[in-house]
Amino acid sequence: MTATDAPIGVFDSGFGGLTVARALFDQLPGEDTVYLGDTARAPYGTKSIPEVREYALECLDYLAGSGVKALVIACNSASSAVLRDARERYDVPVVDVILPAARRAVRASRDGRIGLICTEATATSGSYDDALAAVPGIELVTEPCPSFVDFVEAGVTGGPELLDAARGYLLPLRETGIDTLILGCTHYPLLAGVISYVIGDEVTLVSSAEECAKEVFATLTDAGLLHEGPREPERRFLTTGSPELFAGIGRRLIGGVIDEVEQVYTAAGVPGGRRPSS
Ligand code: DGL
Repeated sequence: MTATDAPIGVFDSGFGGLTVARALFDQLPGEDTVYLGDTARAPYGTKSIPEVREYALECLDYLAGSGVKALVIACNSASSAVLRDARERYDVPVVDVILPAARRAVRASRDGRIGLICTEATATSGSYDDALAAVPGIELVTEPCPSFVDFVEAGVTGGPELLDAARGYLLPLRETGIDTLILGCTHYPLLAGVISYVIGDEVTLVSSAEECAKEVFATLTDAGLLHEGPREPERRFLTTGSPELFAGIGRRLIGGVIDEVEQVYTAAGVPGGRRPSS
C-alpha cells in the first residue's frame, strides 16, 4: 500500500468525533478512514488533564501503529491534553481541532469578543487562551457546558430540558456581547440548532469539526498525501467499549454510514485495564 492509499486515523473519546468524521466524509469523500472512539473511558471532559493525556496517547499510539497516513485528534479535551507531544511523537501529520477553530473565530469576529463553550477539561487546560494569546485585540469568554455531552450521548438534541440547560449556559454569555462563538467540543455541532436559537443568529457559530476537516484537507495536500481520483472509500469504526452501543448511538447521530463496529484493545488493554486472555 502506498502512503496516499493508507487511511486517515480519527480519534475521539466517544461519539463527538463523529461530527469531524462526517465533515471529513463530505470534504474528502475518496479517503479511507479508521475512527476510534474510546467509549470505555468516556467522557474525557470531566477528567483531569493528565488522565486524558494518558488515555489519548494510548489511543493515538494504537492508530499510529495500525499504519495510518495522518492522525486527527477529533476531541477538544484530548487535543488540549496532548497537543504539543503528539506532533513530536508521531512521524505522520497530526491535526487537532483547537488551532483551526481558533483561527476561524479570529477571522469571523467583527470586534474581537469571542465566546468559547467546551468541556471542563478544555476550559481548565487554557488551550484556546494559549491559541489566541498572540492575537492582539481578542477577548475570550469561556463557558463550560458539562451537561451538553450527556444530552448528545442520550440522543437528545432538542426539547424543554435541553433548552433550559442551554439558556442557563448561554444567556449569560450572550450578555457579554460576544459576536462569535466557538463550539469547542466536537459533540456540540449536533446541538447547533438549540445553541443558535438561544444565543441568537447575530452570533456566528464556529464548528471545530468543520474547521478541522478543512485543516486535514490542507495538511494532506501540502504533504502530498491526498488520495487522487474517484474511489469507494473504506470507513472502519472501532470502539474500546460495546460495539452494539456504539453502532446504535453512532447511527442515531450521523446516520447509516456506520455499518460494522469492531471492538479493540489498546496497549493497556482497555476496557478493564487488561487484554483478553485469548
Ligand atoms: N467530544 C469531546 C471534546 O471535543 C468531549 C466529550 C467528552 O467529554 O468525552 O472535548
